[in-house]
Parts: sequence; C-alpha cells; structure tokens
Amino acid sequence: MHKNPSKKYRRFPPVALPDRQWPNRVLTRAPIWCSVDLRDGNQALAVPMNVSQKLELFQTLVKTGFKEIEVGFPSASNTEFTFNRRLIEEKRAPDDVWLQVLVQAREDLIERTVESLIGAKKVIIHMYNSTSPAQRRVVFGKSKDEIKAIAVNGARMIKDRLHRLKGTEIMLQYSPESFSATEHEFAREISEAVMDVWQPTPKHKMILNLPDTVEVAMPNVYADQIEWMCRNIKNRDSLIISLHAHNDRSTGVAATELGLLAGADRVEGTLFGNGERTGNLDIVTVALNLYQHGIDPKLDFSNLNSLIDVYERCTGMTIPARQPYAGELVFTAFSGSHQDAIKKGLAEWAKGGQKNWDVPYLTIDPTDIGREYREVIRVNSQSGKGGVAYLLESEFGIELPKDMQREFGPIANDAVDKLGREVTGAELKQMFWKEYVERASPWRLGNFRTYSENGQVNCQGTLYFKEIQTSINGNGNGPLAALVNGICQLSNVPRFEISNYSEHALSSGETAAAIAYIQIKTADGQTRWGAGVDTNIELASVRAVLSALNRS
Ligand code: KIV
Ligand code: ZN
Repeated sequence: MHKNPSKKYRRFPPVALPDRQWPNRVLTRAPIWCSVDLRDGNQALAVPMNVSQKLELFQTLVKTGFKEIEVGFPSASNTEFTFNRRLIEEKRAPDDVWLQVLVQAREDLIERTVESLIGAKKVIIHMYNSTSPAQRRVVFGKSKDEIKAIAVNGARMIKDRLHRLKGTEIMLQYSPESFSATEHEFAREISEAVMDVWQPTPKHKMILNLPDTVEVAMPNVYADQIEWMCRNIKNRDSLIISLHAHNDRSTGVAATELGLLAGADRVEGTLFGNGERTGNLDIVTVALNLYQHGIDPKLDFSNLNSLIDVYERCTGMTIPARQPYAGELVFTAFSGSHQDAIKKGLAEWAKGGQKNWDVPYLTIDPTDIGREYREVIRVNSQSGKGGVAYLLESEFGIELPKDMQREFGPIANDAVDKLGREVTGAELKQMFWKEYVERASPWRLGNFRTYSENGQVNCQGTLYFKEIQTSINGNGNGPLAALVNGICQLSNVPRFEISNYSEHALSSGETAAAIAYIQIKTADGQTRWGAGVDTNIELASVRAVLSALNRS
C-alpha cells in the first residue's frame, strides 16, 4: 500500500446540494421491487444457472411476491432466449408479474430482444448504455454527444418495434449505466434525451434506473445524486425513479435506503446480494429492515430457510453465517450477558408485557421469518452460567440449582475453551454427566436400604472405597441424614453435612428416572456439589452424596 494514497487515489467530489431534503425524511412504505437475480445475479456466477434452475428460482421469486423480475438478457445467448420463450409459452408468469429484459442500445440486439417477448402479457424493456467519463474515454472513446446519440438511437429502435408486441402491456426502462460516477448534469441530459423519444406521461410512465454500478462514494453522496435528479429532471411525474446499487464499499443497503429517502420509487437488487464483485444490493435485508420498522415490505420471507435452500441450490452460492437476517448465526447469542438479556426479553414478550417487539439483541422476532428461538442460545467459552443452565434445561429438563450453576458454569466454560469451538446441548449434558453423575471413584455404591420407625431412619448398606468393600450403618431423622451419619462413622472419612438439596423427575413414564442434586459442606467450610440419577429417588440422593464426595 502507498504511504500517501492521495498520490494515486482521489476523493469523490460531493454534490452541491446545501438544501438537501432527504436527511429529514423517514421511510413509510415499501418501494416497487425488481429482482435482478436471473440477470445481474446470474451473470456473476462462476457457473451460470441452467434453464431448469432459472425456472425454479423464477417460481420462487414469484412466490415471494416480486411483481417485476428481470429474467435475462435474451439477445446474449440461446439459453437466455430459450428461457424467455419458455416463460412466455408455458405461461409461467402470473398476469400481474412484469417480465423485464435487458438490452444494449444496438439494433441487432434490440431486434432479437423484441422477438423473445412476443406473446408475453406484461414486459419491461430495459435499455442501457454507459455514461461515466471513464467508460466514455476507455471503453467507447466517444464524446458526450456521441454517447447521447447511442442512447437516443437505441430508444428510437425500440420505439419503432413496439408495434410487434401487440396485446402486450409494455413499460420502457432506461439506465445510464455507471450513473453514480457520471456528472449529474450529463446524466440528466442523456436521460431527458431518451425521454424525448419515449414520451412518458404521468399515466404511462417510464422507469429511469439510476445505477450505482460501482460504489465509489459514501451512501449520502448517492442520496444527493438521486435527490438532485428527482428535483432537476423534467417531467418527474412521468418517471418511476429506480435504484440499482452494487456493494463495492459494502454500503449497498445504506445507499438504497438513503436513495429511497431521496425520492426514488423503485429498487432493483438480488436475494442475499448475489452479484458482480461484492454483489448487488441485498433486497432481503432492505425489505426486512422496513419490516423491523413496522412497514409491510410486500415481500414474504416467512420461510427464509426454504428460500435459502432454493437460492443455494440454484446459484451454487452460500450464505455467510453473519449475513443479516439470513445467516446461520444471526439469531445466536454467545456471550452470557446477551443470553441472559434475550432470555428475559423473550419471557417478557411471551407474557405480553410489551406492545411492540423490544427484545434486547434481537431486532426482529426470529419466528416471523421461520427461524427458531432454539437457535438463539448456544454455548461457547464466552457463555455465562445462564447460557449453560438454559441449554441443559431447555433441551434435557435438567434444572440445576442456582448455586450449582455457579459451580458448573466455569467447569463447562473451561472444557469448551479447550475444545476451541461452540458445543451442542448434548455435548454439554455429556460434560455434566462426566463431572457429576458418572463419578464412581473412589466411592461406589453397592447396595443401600432404609428402615424407619417413629420418625427415625436407620440405613444399612455396602459401599466400595477404592474397590474395597465397606459396610455402613447409620441413623438420622431421614435417609440422607442416616447416610451421612453412616459414612462419617467410617475411619479416615472427614466429617461433612448436607448443605443444599433438590431433586426432580427427569422424564415422565413408568421408568422415569429422577435426578438429585446435593451440596455437601466439609468441616473446613468447603462446599461442593454432586448429582445422582436413579429410577429410585432415594438411591438418586445416595448417588448424589457419593458424587459430591468423589469430587474432592
Ligand atoms: O450495474 C448496473 O449498472 C447494471 C445496469 C445494466 C443497470 O446492471
Ligand atoms: Zn448491476
């Protein structure tokens, strides 16, 4: 990298718009959406979709609620042309869905494009040519006037052929490609020249798409450019102003949201932001951001997981784990304090304690888009005792006493830290079993029985200490007290008492097992927990006492 990058790169010049209005506006409704997955998205795939994959994705886009879908570049290849023909001849587009096709301002391509549309119900013919200084100089070697002539001639060629699409409802769209890098006065001039040919009216508007073909500035600059166009172009009421952002500076979503504030009516983008380089604008994110503010996005993502399945199968792309709304980890909290806050927020919401969703760390209710609360809490080495306890309880019904959570939490965290990854509920249960329930050394239970008379309990049994058999015989006001008394009478066993006890059934049914949690306190004031599982609750408690002794 350069020590002084200004020697090589320059700042993007801002638009002079001191009375800009967009910063004071708020979004109140969804824009018109146009999916360009089957064209711009497809163009960017290492292996472009075949016809059957495009058909599957098309049906899914329709099901999601898109009313405008750019289906391809029919003059570019036979596959693209055939796909168009199949959509039309097999009547796959519902009557309210517009099929959009892209074409360059070239006669042969326009001819073939029009041919591909014959018999369609509703079409948008989208013509583009590139307008920025770099494109004019490097790619075309043409002056502004010559570039304008390309657009005007292309617009005429399209207009002259519209009679061939009898019975088809037609909308025309023009994109000054690389708009955001074009001088805005020239972008207006070329757009107005195309408007002069197509003659849009407020009743029969044309779409003026203003692409951020390559993001070269901050999103506020794009918003200024859009507001400038909205305020300065003639016959604004005959235009549908459309945004088409890419994501080179990772601000495609921000540019689009600010562009909408700046007065745009329509948004082009793709599912999950697939597209050239760093991608097109991610429509799912913009739509769900609106939803998060209580605005109906008019797109249905209630089963986001199945949309992801179709998308990944058709495009061969994968969704990163941190992708907003869609990523595998976005409804997962790893830190203990987050887990705790989410747990409390969800409980408050379940009780109806709040009118509007206000759960810490969760911007929307994951179930609204078909995700699960179960995904919310997982455990890694950063998780607190709350997360560990939550997982054991929600997945296995193991209700650790609060004080025992404080003991087991750090033990689990250490083990997870050594593994160096997050763990599942089942792995956590295994750790708990290993630490408490399966401790069988040095103490092991042989047999145990109790007799009670007048509130006094006598216990007798066989224990093994380092595999040496020992008999116990103790008395107390309950089985546990009798057990402690019996053990403490043995030589070389330090005295201890029970300082905490709880138990519950682990599962229902005749063979239900019970789990007992017991905390012992030794003569030196030290405490530690043990746990025991047995179908007999008395034996579960005995096992829990031995587990605690074994953990010394
Ligand atoms: O990114 C772009 O500018 C395009 C145009 C063809 C609209 O895809
Ligand atoms: Zn694009």
